[in-house]
Amino acid sequence: MTAVDARGTRRVQALAREAGVEAAGPVDLRKAYGCFPSGVAAVAALVDGEPVGMAASTFTAVSLEPALVSLCIQRTSTTWPRLRELPRLGLSVLAEGQDAVCRSLSAKAGDRFAGVAWERHDDGAVLIQDATLWLDCTLHSELPAGDHLIALLQVHGVHAQPEAAPLVFHGSLFRQLATL
Ligand SMILES: Cc1cc2nc3c(=O)[nH]c(=O)nc-3n(C[C@H](O)[C@H](O)[C@H](O)COP(=O)(O)O)c2cc1C
Repeated sequence: MTAVDARGTRRVQALAREAGVEAAGPVDLRKAYGCFPSGVAAVAALVDGEPVGMAASTFTAVSLEPALVSLCIQRTSTTWPRLRELPRLGLSVLAEGQDAVCRSLSAKAGDRFAGVAWERHDDGAVLIQDATLWLDCTLHSELPAGDHLIALLQVHGVHAQPEAAPLVFHGSLFRQLATL
């Protein structure tokens, strides 16, 4: 770091202290990031005829042309390395009331799809029944991002049910939307 950079960094740190912004470790950051509400998506596909998938609250719409969405995936994920090799991935935005589905699809052990109503698309994408949005995707690219990677998915098919309220994840809790 040059002297100018060091002075700049110290100045930013001083400003942050004045504003009451503290440097935070991963545990604090996870809690802090939880202030930002999100939906929850399931990304899933067939592997040898069996559904494989995981829940992800990091779903973001990215681009309209081309149609791209993203997920941030923990580098420790054991499911993503299986999914990323597949020709198609189903992405389902979970609806209000599907918190049990989310818990099941994020379980560390056992059959994640036991008790989950799902259907297969002809190309191998797995979609969760009664979700508010279905996207039929291929993996477009991956970008390294610290302890996560950003997976960009290209969207080939869309089936939206905008009248179905989404499941909301906020502060480690599942919540529902209220209309003001
Ligand atoms: C509400 C919720 C949101 C989650 N969002 C993500 C996410 O965006 N990215 C991610 O890598 N894991 C996310 N997870 C964790 C995964 O669903 C899963 O538990 C994790 O990948 C560990 O399993 P694996 O080793 O089979 O991948 C989330 C879990 C929950 C309960």
